[in-house]
Amino acid sequence: MSLYDDLGGEAAVDAAVDIFYQKVLQDERIKEFFTGVNMERQRKMQKQFLTLAFGGPNNYTGANMRKAHERAASYGLNDGHFDAVVENLASTLQGLGVTADKINEVAAVAESIRNDVLNKPQSAAG
Ligand code: HEM
Repeated sequence: MSLYDDLGGEAAVDAAVDIFYQKVLQDERIKEFFTGVNMERQRKMQKQFLTLAFGGPNNYTGANMRKAHERAASYGLNDGHFDAVVENLASTLQGLGVTADKINEVAAVAESIRNDVLNKPQSAAG
């Protein structure tokens, strides 16, 4: 069983992403990054991306994480913003009844792409 299956598959990821962006767009720490962003497309891309990242089917048609966040990085995207996004994702899953151990797995997946999202150099050590 993948993390994707454990979370409840397509319906669960769809519901989570919808609630997640409602939270993000109300979060004073990060909402400004989404000004002018097509949120319908954003939700679709995020559903595809998280499906892939959680071990579900690979239907992702968007940009890689570094490229996708170049614009945000140029506006000062930092670790605090990233933490806020992870917090919103975790609280969304908690609200949907996902267990703490699964939420930790999701957080670990997010951590694995932190440096790409923030457009930081890759760590030198493997
Ligand atoms: C776990 C962390 C993250 C994941 C998995 C993620 C995922 C994605 C995906 C899949 C896209 C769409 C790419 C495309 O359209 O081709 C995207 C775009 C975007 N993301 Fe993220 N993201 C993350 C963190 C963040 C953070 C921390 C911010 C800012 C607070 C952010 C702001 C944006 C914005 C504004 C866009 C629209 C692209 C643009 O600015 O032109 N993301 N992200």
